[in-house]
Amino acid sequence: MDVKIYEYDAVIVGAGLAGLAAAKELTEAGKKTAVITKLHPLRSHSGAAQGGINAALGKDDSTELHEFDTVKGSDYLADQDCVELMCSKAPETIRWAERMGAVFSRDEEGDIAIRPFGGQSKPRACYAKDRTGLTLLQTIYEQADRAGIEVFDEWYCSDLIYKDGKVSGIVAYDIKNSEPAIFNAKVTMFATGGHGRAYRFNSNAHANTGDSLSIVARHGLPLEDMEFVQFHPSGLGGSGVLISEAARGEGGRLFNSEGERFMTKYAPNAMELASRDVVSRAIMEEVRQGKGVGKDGQSVNIDLTHLDPQIILTKLPELRELAIAFQGQDMLKEPIHISATAHYSMGGIPTNINCQVRKSPTEMVEGFYAAGECSCVSVHGANRLGANSVLEALLFGRHAGENMIKALDEGIELRPAKVADADTMLEEMKKLKTSNGIERVSALREELQIGMTKNAGVFRSKESLDEQIALIDSLLVRFDSIRIDDKSKIFNTDLQEALELGHMLEFSKFIVDGALNREESRGGHFREDFPTRDDKKFLKHTYAYMDKAFNITSEWGEVVLGKFEPKERTY
Ligand code: FUM
Repeated sequence: MDVKIYEYDAVIVGAGLAGLAAAKELTEAGKKTAVITKLHPLRSHSGAAQGGINAALGKDDSTELHEFDTVKGSDYLADQDCVELMCSKAPETIRWAERMGAVFSRDEEGDIAIRPFGGQSKPRACYAKDRTGLTLLQTIYEQADRAGIEVFDEWYCSDLIYKDGKVSGIVAYDIKNSEPAIFNAKVTMFATGGHGRAYRFNSNAHANTGDSLSIVARHGLPLEDMEFVQFHPSGLGGSGVLISEAARGEGGRLFNSEGERFMTKYAPNAMELASRDVVSRAIMEEVRQGKGVGKDGQSVNIDLTHLDPQIILTKLPELRELAIAFQGQDMLKEPIHISATAHYSMGGIPTNINCQVRKSPTEMVEGFYAAGECSCVSVHGANRLGANSVLEALLFGRHAGENMIKALDEGIELRPAKVADADTMLEEMKKLKTSNGIERVSALREELQIGMTKNAGVFRSKESLDEQIALIDSLLVRFDSIRIDDKSKIFNTDLQEALELGHMLEFSKFIVDGALNREESRGGHFREDFPTRDDKKFLKHTYAYMDKAFNITSEWGEVVLGKFEPKERTY
C-alpha cells in the first residue's frame, strides 16, 4: 500500500483550544505546521465548555488567591510551580483572547463580567453567556486560519513514531478514503482532549475516546494520575449532558426528593458552590439513600425558579434549551433533574512545566509535547476547579507552541521517517477488517461503559475495582474476536469505532489500576474502604506503564509543593 510521507517542522494532533493555540503561534513564527484532527476544528469538544474561564480580574481578587483555590481544590496534588504559572498568566490570557476578538459578556460598568464557580473564594469565571468555549474556539480558529495553519480534518491519528527517546511524527489515515500517511516532524504535540466516553454517563462528545493516551502507552511511555476522573455534579439525568456549573454560580439550589436542601449537611459554608468532587458525592449519597428524583430515582433537583427570569434568559439561555430539548423541563418554571456525570480527566500524558512529555518522572522525550485535557502538567491534581480547564487549554496550548518554537530555533533535527513506520497502523486496520469473530464493538463498548460508571465511578472500593479489572481483561480478550461489517475504504466509521474501542479498553485499565493502588481518598478519587486522605503514603503522582500483554506496573513521582502546605479541606 502506498504510504505518503509529509514533512513538517511541527505536527499537532487535535484542533481544540490547546491544539489551535499552539498551531497559531507556530505558524505565525514561520514554522511549517500541520494540524491533524478527526473532526472539523469547530466541532472540537472545547466548544462544549459552557460556564467560563478563570482569571483573577475582580477588584478584591488576586493571582495568589486563584493559586490557593486551585491547589486546595486539587486536594494538594497539583504541582504548585505549574499552578503559579497558570494563575499568574490567566489575566493576560483573557486579554489575549479578547484582542483576538473573543466577545466576553460585560458587567454594568462595561468590564468583562465574572461569575462565581465552585471551590473558589471569589467570582472569577469570565464568560460569554453559557457558550464560553464555543466563543473562544471560533475566535482562535479564525485567527489560526488567518495565520495560515494547515488542517488535515477527518484524519485519524493511530500511532506515534517513537524510537530511542525521540518522537519524529505520527501515523494517520484519511477517514474519507482510508489512505494512510506519515506526518514526519521535528516536533510533535498531542492535544486530543478527554476520555469521558469510557463512562456510561458522561458529558463528553462522541469523539472523546482518549485515543492518544493508549497510543502513548503502547510505546511503553507512562500515563500520570489516571485514577483521577472528575464527575461533574450537574449532568442532565439519564443522558449526562452538561448543565453548567454556571447554573449554581448564578444561584441554583439543590434539593432531594424530600425537598431538603441537602448541601447544608455536606458543605454548610460553600453549599452548592463547594468543589465538584464534594457536590458530586453529596448528590450520589442522596441517591443511594433513596432520596433521588426522576423515573429511576437516580437524580436530584436543581431549582432556579427563584431567580429573576432575565438571569436565565440572558446568562443561561443554552442550558434552558438543553433541559427543554432533552427532558422537557423548563428551568424558568420548574426544577430540573440532574446527576453526577463523568466530565474530565485530571490525569493524562505527563509533561513538565514546558509541556514536554516525560519518559519517566525525571526524564523527557525529545521532540514531544502535550497540552490540554489529554495531558497532565499537573495543574488540577486530584480535582479540577470549574473554569480552569478552558484556561489550561488556551494558556498551556500557547505555551507549548512557544516552547516548540524555541526547540525548533535551537536546531532540533528531523529524523527521517520510513514507510515501515506505518506498519503497525496498517496491520491493526487489516486485522480489524478481516477478523471474522462473533463480538460486536457496540456491545463491548456498552459493557465497558456500564462497568466504569458502576465500579470506577464516584464511589470505588477494592471489590468494585477488582470486578472492573476482571471485566476489562475479559473485554480485551473478546476484542480479539471482533467483527466489523463495513469492509470499505470510504468513511468507514465501523473501523474507526473499533480502533477507538481498543484505546478505550486500554486506558480504562490505567484508571482502574491506579484507583486500586491508591488506597486513600483524594479529590475525585473516593475509596469507600479508605475514606480519608493519606499524605504520608500518597501525596505522590502515579506514573503507570503498560506492557504488550496489557499488564500495568506503576511507580510514584514527586509532587511539586510550594507556598501552600497541605491542609484538610473544608467547604
Ligand atoms: O460547568 C461548566 O460550565 C464546566 C466548566 C468546566 O468544566 O470548566
